[in-house]
Amino acid sequence: MKILITAGPTREAIDPVRFISNRSSGRMGYALAAAFLRREDQVLLISGPTTIDIPDHADFIPVESADDMYRAVEKAINDCDIAIFCAAVADYTIAQPEPQKIKKDAETFTLQLTKTKDILGSARDPLNFSGTLVGFAAETQDVELYAKSKRSKKKCDLIIANDVSREGTGFDSTENEVLIISEFETIKLPRQSKENLGHILAEIIADYHRARQE
Ligand code: C5P
Repeated sequence: MKILITAGPTREAIDPVRFISNRSSGRMGYALAAAFLRREDQVLLISGPTTIDIPDHADFIPVESADDMYRAVEKAINDCDIAIFCAAVADYTIAQPEPQKIKKDAETFTLQLTKTKDILGSARDPLNFSGTLVGFAAETQDVELYAKSKRSKKKCDLIIANDVSREGTGFDSTENEVLIISEFETIKLPRQSKENLGHILAEIIADYHRARQE
């Protein structure tokens, strides 16, 4: 099978030396990529900047901005059986990035931001992806409730949800504790390393995909 995975943060340029970004290490997406590769699936990893080694044998597309990531996904998604959106995409980008470094003369400074495209939310429509679609949801309260509504709003098959307000899990940490939400049920996986979780999630996602084909 061919699996597309988005991972890591995106960077939205303010000027040539500054950007806004998200607190994401990319570990969950890279762990999933490694897990699918171990199952001998083909993996296309589309990733924002991280400090993690690229898993051996993954096809790799490095991107910077949310717009770069959208364009890479748009090109590749319909060659894939499963698409998993782990990336912490910036919700807003700079309306007019400056071509030269901005001088720090002004006492106050206002940045105008515009909304980025929702890449996961575009997968079904307008991108016409008909494979198995998996999104992530990072919430700070009512995790299951918000994740369920995200699942239907973004037309995903599965949502992997976690509570990022908890110490030591979620963004930028090595462990995670997640709920897996499908149209049938919610499964709770205990707190564990993202590597471990990657293997369990890869099996659950592959099983779901197989059942969906039958
Ligand atoms: O809407 P929210 O950011 O909470 O949704 C999270 C899910 O949507 C994640 O799977 C994330 O990768 C994806 N997403 C995306 N493009 C965006 C924002 C979020 O693909 N612009």
